Amino acid sequence: MKQVLSLNINGHDRDVMVSHEDLLVDVLRDQLGLIGTKKGCGHGSCGTCTVIIDGEAVLSCLTLALSSQGKKITTIEGIEKDGALHPLQQSFIERGAVQCGFCTPGMIMSAAALLSHNKSPSIEEIKIGLSGNLCRCTGYVKIVDAVEVAAAKMRQLDAAQKGA
Ligand code: FES
Ligand code: FES
Repeated sequence: MKQVLSLNINGHDRDVMVSHEDLLVDVLRDQLGLIGTKKGCGHGSCGTCTVIIDGEAVLSCLTLALSSQGKKITTIEGIEKDGALHPLQQSFIERGAVQCGFCTPGMIMSAAALLSHNKSPSIEEIKIGLSGNLCRCTGYVKIVDAVEVAAAKMRQLDAAQKGA
């Protein structure tokens, strides 16, 4: 039997009909058309399905959709602002941290959650923050570099806004 799931996704209130066994990753991709969130392993090992729920990075393939009732969800489609890429998206492009791109949305969402809690992470802290996200292509060095660069950009933006 299906029931209504009410969510706030990327700033918009949405209602969808879901079953008890539906996984959040499938609802996002198949019902809401948010296919930026990838489904890689489907069992919690690769991190490609990472989204942010109420400020925390969460694996949407291990999350029953109904457990997100009333929560605020951010996916990769929701992090740009006023048509401008998020600093993490920009840095991933500039630092060559994207190859096939399959891991990239999950990497960026894990990094966004990390930077929301820690504006100046060390290299070690970035590696720990991304430890649940696998990449088959890049070797990780450029990804860690991109997160470090984005963190610096975001601190500069914060400082400029406070000074304005
Ligand atoms: S698809 Fe969720 S961790 Fe791999
Ligand atoms: S860029 Fe291909 S898996 Fe990471």
